Amino acid sequence: MTDDLFTPLPLSETTLSNRVMVSPMCQYSCDARDGLATDWHFQHLASRAVGGAGVVMTEATAVELRGRISPEDLGIWSDDHADALADITDFVREQGSRPGIQLAHAGRKAATSRPWEGHDPLQPEEGGWETLAPTDEPYPYDDDAPPTRAMTEADLADVRDAFADAARRALDAGFEIAEVHAAHGYLLHEFLSPVTNTREDAYGGDFESRIRFPLEVIEAVREVWPDEKPVFVRISATDWLPDRESWTVDDSIRFADRASEAGVDLIDVSAGGIHPDQQIPSGGPGYQIRYGRRVREGVDTDLKVGAVGGITTPEQADSLVRNGRADLAIVGREHLRDPYFTLHAAQKLGRDDEVDVPPQYHRAF
Ligand code: FNR
Repeated sequence: MTDDLFTPLPLSETTLSNRVMVSPMCQYSCDARDGLATDWHFQHLASRAVGGAGVVMTEATAVELRGRISPEDLGIWSDDHADALADITDFVREQGSRPGIQLAHAGRKAATSRPWEGHDPLQPEEGGWETLAPTDEPYPYDDDAPPTRAMTEADLADVRDAFADAARRALDAGFEIAEVHAAHGYLLHEFLSPVTNTREDAYGGDFESRIRFPLEVIEAVREVWPDEKPVFVRISATDWLPDRESWTVDDSIRFADRASEAGVDLIDVSAGGIHPDQQIPSGGPGYQIRYGRRVREGVDTDLKVGAVGGITTPEQADSLVRNGRADLAIVGREHLRDPYFTLHAAQKLGRDDEVDVPPQYHRAF
C-alpha cells in the first residue's frame, strides 16, 4: 500500500503518528536574555501539538551561550533550561505528538539583534559577543560584524561536548527526537561548505576533512541519545552559489550516507544561508522539495528524508509522501498561519479517523 500523510512513520523504536512536522522556528522570545523557555514557547509548541502534527520541533536551541543567534534565543546550556522545557514536552506528548529539539550553534551568524529589531550584527559593547567559526572571516554583513574567532582544537572539543551535554539535558527534559542543526550558514554548515571552511588542518580542505567536525558532533549526540529514539540532521542541500566552489546536492547525498552510518535516522533537507550572494531559484510552492527528493533517490542507506520549504496545503504535503519524494512533510510558516494544519488536513483529505481531535475542540473538526 502507498504511504500517505497519515501513514505512521516508524523511526528507531519510535513511531510518528503522521508525516507532518512543525519546522523549527526561532521565536526570539526569552526574557532577560537568559535562554529559558517562557509562556510564549509553551503556547507556540503546545498549540501546534493540539493541531495534530506528528512531530513538534523546537526552534534552534543554543547548546552554549555563544551559539545563540540573538540574545533572546532559546538555550539548553544548563539544567535550568531543561527544567523550563519539561512542561512543554509533557504537554506535547499528551497530545500524541513527538517533541523534538533542534540543537544549534549559530557560529559566525551569532550575535545579531532580533528580526523585528533589524537583525543587525551586535558588537560586544552592544550586547553581542565574539563568534566562533572555522576561520576568523566574519559573515559579510553590510554593517561591521562582531569579531569572529577561528576555532582552535580546544574550541572544537568544547563545542562537541556542549552538543553532547545539551542532548543529555534534552533527554532529561523529555524530548524524543534530537535534531542537529547543520544548515542555513550556522556553525556546522560553516564547516561543511568550502565557501566558509578554508582551514588547512584536519577539519578543512577536502570533503572528508570538512565533514569531520559535523560528523563528530553527530556521533557525540548519538552516543548520549538512546538507540530507540531518533536523531535527525538538518542540512542545506545546496549553498545556492553556482558560480563558485560551494556545497552541492551531490555533496549532500554523500554526507547523508555518512550521517546515516553515524546513526542518523532522518535527514531534514533545507537549503541556503551560507552567504548573502546566494541565488534562490524561486520562492514558490515547494521551492526546495526537489533537493529532498534527490537526496532520497541518491542515498545508499535506508535513511528517511524530510522535505521543507513552501509546503502550504494538505494536498501538497500528502502528494509528497504518496509520490515518494519525502518521508516527512516539514511545514514552517503555514503552521504560524494555521496551528491546526494537520487537523485541517485530515478534514480536507477525508481522513478524520486518523487524528485525535481534543474533546474540547470536537465540535470544530
Ligand atoms: C525559520 N527557520 C528556521 N530553520 C531552522 O532550522 N531553525 C530555526 O530556528 C528557524 N527559525 C525560523 C524562524 C521563522 C520565523 C521562520 C519563518 C523560519 C526556517 C524554517 O524552519 C523553514 O525551513 C522555512 O521557513 C521554510 O519552510 P516554510 O516556512 O516555507 O514551510
